[in-house]
Amino acid sequence: MPLACFSRHFLLFFVVGGTLAACGDPVRELEIAELGPEPRGVPVGPQHRPGQPCLLCHDAKGGSSIFSVAGTIYVDADSDARAGGVGVRMVDSDKRVFTAVTNCAGNFYVLPGQFAPHYPMWVSVMSRGSAAPVLEEPMLMETPTFREGSCAACHKNPMTPKNARHVFMFFDAQNLPGTKCSK
Ligand code: HEC
Ligand code: HEC
Repeated sequence: MPLACFSRHFLLFFVVGGTLAACGDPVRELEIAELGPEPRGVPVGPQHRPGQPCLLCHDAKGGSSIFSVAGTIYVDADSDARAGGVGVRMVDSDKRVFTAVTNCAGNFYVLPGQFAPHYPMWVSVMSRGSAAPVLEEPMLMETPTFREGSCAACHKNPMTPKNARHVFMFFDAQNLPGTKCSK
């Protein structure tokens, strides 16, 4: 936890006796609470909370270890099957390129020391052909993202006028099972 965050907690704790989550930002605290508890049977770490907006907790204000970009890639538009071994390619406004690869849970995360994009950032996903089925052409996001590092801030099922569908590899994967993490 960053020091500034900690001391604000410390102060809040004594002054108003507030909760210690998310640096006393009530909107963020509510959003985090709405995500619910840790899913059972999944250790807290790289495989947890697939599909959730990771940076809500994992940024400078979130209180957990800091990521610059993170998210989850699914096999297709509708199913919950997730795709490991997918390359998530990011290109920032300085034309710096970084590719992260999803793990068995379909999750990927980027540490600021690895890549801290200067926005806007363009994104595409493509199979690396290992765990996930091979995708010939990358899936491109046409519009860049201007500051948001969590894919799930805009991408989650079901699709609504406010959000895009979860990020996926194939429009129709015909029941491809997706990748699983061994216990
Ligand atoms: C509701 C809050 C919350 C969300 C959302 C969340 N995490 Fe976490 N995560 C935590 C906490 C708390 C820990 C344990 C403390 C820590 O490592 O910072 C943790 C730990 C981790 C770790 C281990 C970090 C380390 O330094 O050892 C990884 C990796 C991780 N999460 C990835 C993710 C990914 C990827 C997502 C999104 C798909 C995500 N998390 C979503 C709260 C969250
Ligand atoms: C600020 C909102 C926002 C963020 C953040 C965002 N996206 Fe998107 N994304 C969209 C919207 C809206 C579309 C649909 C229109 C388009 O392609 O530009 C889209 C489309 C896509 C597509 C094309 C497939 C499709 O459903 O049309 C891919 C692939 C994609 N996004 C991947 C990602 C990944 C990976 C991340 C995280 C690194 C991410 N996006 C973060 C808003 C966002």
